[in-house]
Amino acid sequence: MTRRIAARRSPIHGNGVFALVDIPKGVELIEYRGKLLTMAQADRKYANTSDSGHTFLFTLNEKYVLDANSEGNIARWINHSCVPNCKAFIHENEDGDPRKDRVIIESLRALKPGEELTYDYGIVLEERLTPRLKAIWACRCGARDCTGTLLKPKRAPRAKKPVAKASARKG
Ligand SMILES: C[S@@+](CC[C@H](N)C(=O)[O-])C[C@H]1O[C@@H](n2cnc3c(N)ncnc32)[C@H](O)[C@@H]1O
Ligand SMILES: [Zn+2]
Repeated sequence: MTRRIAARRSPIHGNGVFALVDIPKGVELIEYRGKLLTMAQADRKYANTSDSGHTFLFTLNEKYVLDANSEGNIARWINHSCVPNCKAFIHENEDGDPRKDRVIIESLRALKPGEELTYDYGIVLEERLTPRLKAIWACRCGARDCTGTLLKPKRAPRAKKPVAKASARKG
């Protein structure tokens, strides 16, 4: 099959992933791969790294995180946008095994060759959203409606999505 996407330098940040061909809406483009870590393992390994403003972690579910620093594929280079053209969907394992849940990046609209793929990282830190943290996690997606930061405010207490502790992670 013709290669549909490839990684190269991005105007948003570092490396990004770009469409090589016309891609219709609703296409499953790539799986986000990485080493499976428990939340506790990720927090120990990346304690206090929210100050770096950089993460290859993706929250898989309430128990597990994918760490694309090892065993990652090119999906780890996909940048965040406040107005994304793709979305990361969690596909839950049919037998209910959370270790086997998968993250698949899918196009939200038709993409033209040369367009950079983006999705909304949805990073929520446990710490208070200070101006300092917002600056560390400044967003350069270039969208007119850019919020200026990769971070999202904490959800209401009843929300199900996990909140990152020491380590920042997407998803
Ligand atoms: C999974 S990496 C994406 C690949 C990254 N461009 C690189 O070269 O390492 C995630 C990191 O990329 C950077 N990044 C992604 N989207 C960004 C954006 N919209 N604005 C600024 N930095 C961004 C942040 O440092 C983020 O933690
Ligand atoms: Zn933005």
